[in-house]
Amino acid sequence: MSKGTFYITTPIYYPSDKLHIGHAYCTVATDTIARYKRMCGYDVMFLTGTDEHGQKIEEKAKAKGVTPQQFVDEIVEGKGGILDLWKLMNISNDRFIRTTDNYHVEAIQKIFKQMFDNGDIYKGSYKGKYCTPCESFWTESQLNNGKCPDCGRDVHDAEEEAYFFRLSKYADRVQALLETPGFLEPASRVNEMINNFIKPGLEDLCVSRTTFKWGIPVTFDPGHVVYVWVDALSNYITALGYDNDKYNDFDKYWPADVHMVGKEIVRFHSIIWPAMLMSLGLPMPKKVYGHGWLLIDGGKMSKSKGNMVDPVLLAERYGVDSLRYFLMREFPLGSDGSFTNEALINRINSDLANDFGNLVSRTVAMVIKYFDGTLPAERVYEPVDDELINMAKGLRNIYEADMDGFMSQAAVLDVFKVISRANKYIDETAPWILAKDEANKARLATVMYNLLEAIRITVTLLQPFMPESCEKAFAQIGATENDKLWDNAAIFGVLPANLTVSRGDTLFPRIDLEKELAALDAMSTPPAQPEAPEDSTVTIDEFAKVQMTVCKVLECENVKKSEKLLRFKLNDGSAAPRQIFSGIAKYYKPEELVGKTVVACTNLPPRKMMGEESNGMLLSAEKDGKLNLLILDDAISAGATLC
Ligand code: MSP
Repeated sequence: MSKGTFYITTPIYYPSDKLHIGHAYCTVATDTIARYKRMCGYDVMFLTGTDEHGQKIEEKAKAKGVTPQQFVDEIVEGKGGILDLWKLMNISNDRFIRTTDNYHVEAIQKIFKQMFDNGDIYKGSYKGKYCTPCESFWTESQLNNGKCPDCGRDVHDAEEEAYFFRLSKYADRVQALLETPGFLEPASRVNEMINNFIKPGLEDLCVSRTTFKWGIPVTFDPGHVVYVWVDALSNYITALGYDNDKYNDFDKYWPADVHMVGKEIVRFHSIIWPAMLMSLGLPMPKKVYGHGWLLIDGGKMSKSKGNMVDPVLLAERYGVDSLRYFLMREFPLGSDGSFTNEALINRINSDLANDFGNLVSRTVAMVIKYFDGTLPAERVYEPVDDELINMAKGLRNIYEADMDGFMSQAAVLDVFKVISRANKYIDETAPWILAKDEANKARLATVMYNLLEAIRITVTLLQPFMPESCEKAFAQIGATENDKLWDNAAIFGVLPANLTVSRGDTLFPRIDLEKELAALDAMSTPPAQPEAPEDSTVTIDEFAKVQMTVCKVLECENVKKSEKLLRFKLNDGSAAPRQIFSGIAKYYKPEELVGKTVVACTNLPPRKMMGEESNGMLLSAEKDGKLNLLILDDAISAGATLC
């Protein structure tokens, strides 16, 4: 019997680039909740997808010499694309929407017309600062020193015809909705929305564009395309069949139980989207949950910083479940968190290899060793059993409260309390001592059974986080489908008394931290070079910012595990030697370079290479595919600055 429906969504991602660990984080968090709800007995609809229109996609496609449709098809459906990523990450979405799907396009045209017909969309004129080469409108506050923030050129006042949505009309109703407990979570985001957007006065929203073509045309005024957020937000209803015949479960699943979104798009989901739904006369989503960001070195990931973390690389190297587990265990959902490779590896080693994996493998190994894999049915109880049994029995209720409150991190922590307690129980009961005396057989079997039951319950509750590994653990403890059920997770004593276990592969192999950190650093992608502006000249002031220092090579050596790199210790005129890694190992023997005078750019930000810092870059000249270090006459002393 279903407990009812549960509709949960992720944002639909922009297919303008490869997705990174931040996108994977949101999708895994949503997947975990969807799996949890299914396990509890809900009829779940889990939707994700891609937001494929807009100027940025149009420009990227143009730069690549393909049509926008070809461009997004490749990123979404191509090899290693978004669909492949979600398959790899074991995402259990029931539906996937692309905003270029015909049924969605047609539905958006109807939705736009509906809002126009009911008087909520009207034609007006859009005033702003216009950059002609970029064909973009900017507001005063978006400008960079009065210039176009994209290309840095002059902008001028301009006005164009556009359609507007009467957002202002809904301000009071939206405010009341925002103030409804539970609608927007974490609750801290409510005041942010009210103070920053509602109180200063909600302005009507410009919902059509004429400056680019890659969007959904307004049927009754085809020079206009629908604003990308109106197009994108509506995905949550078109994917259920609203205003289209492709699907037919709008009445069943709407309103959504949760829209899971990153904190930067809470505004769109908790203000604009509700106002659109009000205009359409539809019920409000029950909840918008604004999760925090994964930060790298305290900031956002970006291509230009070269610090994008690739979920594929990590999942392939350490296993999908380890990565999923780490993402949910390390970061509380509502707050920002700092992603590091070191934290990932430490977490896998301590929680998964040591605590969890070890508990399963030790227990199974002991049942095989002492009972040939099958427990005898007799039992001998002792008071030391109570705490473990009670903790395991009580876990499901605690976990349920955590999960229902979107506290996946707390849920995992609570499961691991029982895992730790079970490991401690092994030490307390010392099965290897019991095994020495045949008379203790029934007691030993009881200890093993209690451990297996604690494992069954914890594994049941870990399923939403690590589906595949939990299946493997279940197989090892001989659990049947019935033993894996949610209803049985609150009961102790479900496994048959005479159950049979079987040895399996190590669930989570230990990882060599140092070795892996070095390997990951060596694989990290260098920062993307900014696309060369049309005018590639630099001003004398810009050039003067580059600090080039004459340095003497103090030490030079090959770098272990790298064919490309040499490690330099340089005298740059300061007291401490400067370390720089340079990719020229193919062209020089390290000993040839000691004592030479070279030039380094010394005001680049430090970069991690092979687990260590590289502070600058050595200048070299390329000729016929060979790199030649710029070696200067020794007469110039170390520390001199090129000018
Ligand atoms: N297309 C819009 C969403 C439309 S929904 C109707 C969009 N797309 S996006 O590709 O930029 O994805 C944004 C979402 O990805 C964020 O809201 C968040 O869920 C996730 N993340 C992107 N970077 C992230 C981090 N660094 N950390 C955590 N989540 C991140 O906005």
